[in-house]
Amino acid sequence: MHRLVCVNCGQSYPSQEIVYQCRRCQHLLAVEYSLDEIQIETDLWNSRPLSVWRYRELLPVKGEPVTLREGGTPLYHLSRLGKEMGIRSLYAKHEGMNPSGSFKDRGMTVGVSMALELGKRTVACASTGNTSASLAVYAAKAGLHAVVLLPAGKVALGKVAQALIHGAEAIAIRGNFDEALEMVQELCRSHGLYLLNSINPYRLEGQKTIGFEVIDQLKGAPDRFVLPVGNAGNISAIFKGLMELKALDLVDRIPMMTGIQAKGSQPVVRAIKGGMDTVVPEQKPETVATAIRIGAPVNAEKALVAIRSTGGTAEAVTDAEILAMQRELARKEGIGVEPASAASVAGVKKLVENGVIDRDECIVCVVTGHLLKDPETVIGQCKPPTEIDADISSLVSALRL
Ligand code: F0G
Repeated sequence: MHRLVCVNCGQSYPSQEIVYQCRRCQHLLAVEYSLDEIQIETDLWNSRPLSVWRYRELLPVKGEPVTLREGGTPLYHLSRLGKEMGIRSLYAKHEGMNPSGSFKDRGMTVGVSMALELGKRTVACASTGNTSASLAVYAAKAGLHAVVLLPAGKVALGKVAQALIHGAEAIAIRGNFDEALEMVQELCRSHGLYLLNSINPYRLEGQKTIGFEVIDQLKGAPDRFVLPVGNAGNISAIFKGLMELKALDLVDRIPMMTGIQAKGSQPVVRAIKGGMDTVVPEQKPETVATAIRIGAPVNAEKALVAIRSTGGTAEAVTDAEILAMQRELARKEGIGVEPASAASVAGVKKLVENGVIDRDECIVCVVTGHLLKDPETVIGQCKPPTEIDADISSLVSALRL
């Protein structure tokens, strides 16, 4: 049993109602379960494969979900990078290993399953890329029509390719993500499409399983979660899930939620550092990490609570720091991630150097998307292959053996 509850005024809505924001005060909604009625058998959870659906008792879907086996992603110990930074327990949860190559699949398996349960035939989102790729994939699996709005010229190549091949109707907006999100919300209101951006509280339910999996993988909670922040949905989702585990006595403490943004697009960082109650939107967000090129994060209200109430923090990193960490992860750990994802580890490096993060902490960075999402940015920073004639002496001299 669950319902939708406004995080501001507490107004509640039945689970079958299609509503994305409180009708009374326009604030965000969250899915609320009657936790005292839920029986969680951890043995039952442990008997299922590590995946989103291991935790189905804490998810809103009643029937068979639309699934491509999302979740169950590896948690890698960053031994080399950790040693360089002086942190023994530094981990990366590689969400790029999901079916469409990003953490969005966790949200979409739940969100698209709910679209079916609610009788919707067309689903829609605005996206910096990954949400659109994931929505296209899950809509294809469910046999639904997907409409995706993308900021023209600002979406990484691999993500556009995915949205197109999986059959989404892709529209490029001459504007930024924030404008595209306004438009898709208006479209869904006026034309009854089902909105699957992270303002939809069901999406976040799937994403909270990142935290559940990490706790199962580490056999306990880390001291800190570090995430790249764009629309601020994922950090809010993980926090919500942890609070549910705490209420159910399945975890003894809540990790410090830490958000990393790009220097050119850091409204949440400004709000945290400035002690502000609300986030002031940035009009012209800019960063090489196009996934998090977002000036007006819709879930900021939830994220500020997540960060502040856990004693976490927020920090900004430059594009150069992001790209340097993308290369370090690739070359020193064998982990290929897109720029936004590298921001989380780059943020840890900076926070450790500044003395904000203690080196004794157990830290889990969520690396959110796969390297192949954005091949152009990769090629742009690497020396191209050396081209030679097809003979062995050219090969030997090219290799300077
Ligand atoms: N990392 C990647 C790779 C992303 O694609 C996103 C968001 C984030 C981090 C930030 O997560 O928005 O929950 O704070 N991408 C969205 C999209 C906005 O449209 O694909 P968030």
